[in-house]
Amino acid sequence: TDLYCVFGNPIAHSKSPFIHAAFARETGESVIYEARLAPVDGFAEAVRAFVAAGGRGANVTVPFKEEAFRMCAALTPRAKRAGAVNTLSFVDGQCCGDNTDGAGLVADIVDNLGFSPAGRRILLLGAGGAARGVVEPLLATRPATLVIANRSSDKAQLLVDIFADLGPVRASTFADLAGNTFDLVINATSASLSGAALPLPSDLFAPASLAYDMMYGKGETPFLAQARMQGAGRCADGLGMLVGQAAEAFFVWRGVRPATAPVLAELRAALG
Ligand code: ATR
Repeated sequence: TDLYCVFGNPIAHSKSPFIHAAFARETGESVIYEARLAPVDGFAEAVRAFVAAGGRGANVTVPFKEEAFRMCAALTPRAKRAGAVNTLSFVDGQCCGDNTDGAGLVADIVDNLGFSPAGRRILLLGAGGAARGVVEPLLATRPATLVIANRSSDKAQLLVDIFADLGPVRASTFADLAGNTFDLVINATSASLSGAALPLPSDLFAPASLAYDMMYGKGETPFLAQARMQGAGRCADGLGMLVGQAAEAFFVWRGVRPATAPVLAELRAALG
């Protein structure tokens, strides 16, 4: 049996152990997956102890993804671009870093929601770590355009500079979005944590538009409520992305791609 875990702080309510236990049952892989609380100033030490205890790999969540990026001896290209690591593999005591968040998002949008981003107009709201983690896989779907809108427009431009060679990506302020409609609008801001509504122009959504919130929770998120009132025909929260990034991490570690729909349905039922 191989040992894996997720590091975070806080971590008590992480759904990852449940998800990976379901993947292990489904695929027959012999895997144990635990949640581990790392002290805010003790992440590297916690990882070293886990490796010493035989850990084969780990997921990394808030607030350690950037620190995990910095401590890796090797990085996948997508982790390098993301500037953050959510999946660690331990090979001969060395830390190899990957980032499966963007792949998980795209898998949810394409496979679970049946939305094909190729040739479509995509808007990404936010330019922090969560946004940066998904830009490369979004551009890989070959959208007509990917606009990154952020409150501080210099941070959106910074992301554009990092990813411009990968596809048609440009920066915007919220105000400058006026007059534009998008097929897919993804919320990667943390605005709903503070209960703040985003200053979105009223003509952003068409009846066929998909609004996607990388956040999730019990009931409708503030962003999805706003999108629905502004006319978005379809809404989805980030629970499918959570399961998607886990499935991609499982694939990185085990070389087997688990089905995500059954465990997503179970989580959805439990969330209420
Ligand atoms: P995360 O890791 O969740 O991305 P972050 O790196 O702190 O966290 O980024 C938070 C993102 O949410 C940023 O894009 C931030 O906008 P700024 O760059 O202008 O700070 C955005 N954000 C947070 N609260 C917001 C609000 N009330 N209105 C608009 N954007 C907000």
